[in-house]
Amino acid sequence: MNTKEMIAFVDLHAQHAPILDEIHAAINEILSNSSFIGGTAVSQFEAEFAQYLGVQEVIGVGNGTDALWLALVANGIGPGDAVITVPNTFIATAEGITRAGAHPLFVDIDIETANLSPVALNEFLANQCAVDDNGHLRHVQSGTRVAAVMPVHLYGLPADLLAISEICEQHQLTLIEDACQAHGAKIRVNGEWKRAGTFGAAAAFSFYPGKNLGAIGDAGAVVTNNPEAAAKMRELRSHGSSEKYIHTTHEGWNARLDAIQAAVLSIKLRYLDEWNECRYQAAQWYRQGLAGLPIELPYEPEDHQHVYHLYVVRTEQRDEVRKALLDYGIETGIHYPIPLHLQQAYNWMNLPLGSFPNAERSAQTILSLPMHPYLSQQQVEHVCQAFKSVLSDK
Ligand SMILES: Cc1ncc(COP(=O)(O)O)c(C=O)c1O
Repeated sequence: MNTKEMIAFVDLHAQHAPILDEIHAAINEILSNSSFIGGTAVSQFEAEFAQYLGVQEVIGVGNGTDALWLALVANGIGPGDAVITVPNTFIATAEGITRAGAHPLFVDIDIETANLSPVALNEFLANQCAVDDNGHLRHVQSGTRVAAVMPVHLYGLPADLLAISEICEQHQLTLIEDACQAHGAKIRVNGEWKRAGTFGAAAAFSFYPGKNLGAIGDAGAVVTNNPEAAAKMRELRSHGSSEKYIHTTHEGWNARLDAIQAAVLSIKLRYLDEWNECRYQAAQWYRQGLAGLPIELPYEPEDHQHVYHLYVVRTEQRDEVRKALLDYGIETGIHYPIPLHLQQAYNWMNLPLGSFPNAERSAQTILSLPMHPYLSQQQVEHVCQAFKSVLSDK
């Protein structure tokens, strides 16, 4: 094996090379008409992404964190409310909740999928929540009203939205999806494939450059089938205003999607399905190449179409393996090394080690291998060979 070849974790250069002329032309057009904020580039991308997903409304915003905040606020969630999510996610999921003035509540994951466990969710609602005299479901310890559930489609695998939607309906909870890692992922419902992000009252997408659909800077979007909530989000993303210098709420913010990002996203959206197929192919090469090794490979539940934003395996010897792979020139990542309840930022929640055994176990054993649409079969084989050598040395 050539141990000198570096294998990048993500290769945006390779992804941009074939479409560089299109990107330059789109940027030049915006430069020549000086429409940097709003305008047709933004509305066009919003319409195209809405059509791609099969939703009525897309609201382009500055980033995925803004999208999470807006999705909650426009659905009436705020101070005194609690939103259930998972501890094994990027901090933005919980930041969106606190930015809306609400209280995050964590529920453990399913170890196989790394997504919110419907079983743990039901247990949490039964054991830690109770209906008050006004008929509101409250989290007993914090006294907050349980208003919403925000599953994260982690690594590109949709959470069990059928089971979670049913629980939400049963308890009258709003379902808001954190779809920031799941552009194009699908679930089959009654024989029909439906995209992640279209199951809840709203969903948030991030177009951070390394995402399956990535901008060339920060960008995001909220998607919904509710025109009233969409109108509210449009107002809030632009200083609480739908008419210049007329402000109808003080809760507004500057959370707009800029035109250059929108124009680039319109170009990249045309390639999204093809790129997702390439990612899926790379995942299959990994599956073949890593078969038989004492590691856990990503689980693909029936009727769920994974888009492999990340290819994450689990191994007890994660830290040694990671170091040894780097010696072979292979970059890896850990998504995410510290569950949110154990972060200093959430000390105030007083949730000690042991609170969420699956999320904690996952954080200690997960390893993200190189994954992007231009990963070649030879590169994947190189990673698998290196993995074999590393494990046989242990
Ligand atoms: C699961 C998840 N939620 C939210 C976000 C926030 O998105 P952004 O970085 O665009 O604000 C990210 C981005 O990394 C994410 O992965």
